[in-house]
Amino acid sequence: MTDTPKRSHGRKAVKLTVQPRDLMDPNPELAGVWTARIISLFPETFPGILGESLTGKALREGRWQLETIGLRDYGVGKHKNVDDTPAGGGAGMVLRPDVVGNAIEDAMAGARGNWPILYMSPRGKRLDQQMARNLSRCDGVTILCGRFEGVDERVLEHYGIQEVSLGDFVMTGGEIAAYALLDATVRLLPGVLGNAESIEEESFSNGMLEHPQYTRPAEWKGREIPPVLMSGHHGKVAEWRKEESERITRERRPDLLE
Ligand SMILES: C[S@@+](CC[C@H](N)C(=O)[O-])C[C@H]1O[C@@H](n2cnc3c(N)ncnc32)[C@H](O)[C@@H]1O
Repeated sequence: MTDTPKRSHGRKAVKLTVQPRDLMDPNPELAGVWTARIISLFPETFPGILGESLTGKALREGRWQLETIGLRDYGVGKHKNVDDTPAGGGAGMVLRPDVVGNAIEDAMAGARGNWPILYMSPRGKRLDQQMARNLSRCDGVTILCGRFEGVDERVLEHYGIQEVSLGDFVMTGGEIAAYALLDATVRLLPGVLGNAESIEEESFSNGMLEHPQYTRPAEWKGREIPPVLMSGHHGKVAEWRKEESERITRERRPDLLE
């Protein structure tokens, strides 16, 4: 549990040694940096895997910012309750609107420009590359991670929250979906990927799935790399990749070609 509701993770962590990753002070150097604010019952699970590799390096370099808001801090009563039984009866529990509302209002304090509030939810619009691209062009995003049976509908209506789904399946909470959304978005921010070309050529960037990839050794378990890729002929390589990309898209995702 946190002492104060909002925690920052990122750039200042590389400068201090006592509590890396858990730094609360707003960093003036990072004003204007793309920021994700996560509301979760498990804020301590962030940045998790996002603190590694390219997203982690970018976080430490201040190319994006992550703040977590612990929902339990807004709980009511002696036991800091965040949920209650569903109106009308039925199984499970529902996140209370007063609790979630207070967390959202704190999370949105100081939010600037184009800053949507998202609720990770199986009922939402399916996350895709275009959505990640759009979010990367915003100033920031606040993400509510649900638990139990979800959140009181009035909260979604009141704050104009957009629901976003990871796919047609049900998970126990929104955190893993938030991770996926953040990873897909942050890697599109300027300077996060070393090689900008990899964004241009990868799956979905041109509306198609990517061609097959190979690397050394040239032969492995009797399987060879397609000779054209070893030919050194850039024009033929590009043509082969385009054809393969079209073939795989036609076979696996004809809907993308439509
Ligand atoms: C058990 S689920 C609630 C499911 C809800 N009762 C329903 O039937 O739509 C608990 C939480 O997990 C998250 N969640 C589950 N599946 C998800 C998905 N496919 N995409 C995004 N979030 C999901 C949501 O935040 C949700 O509030």
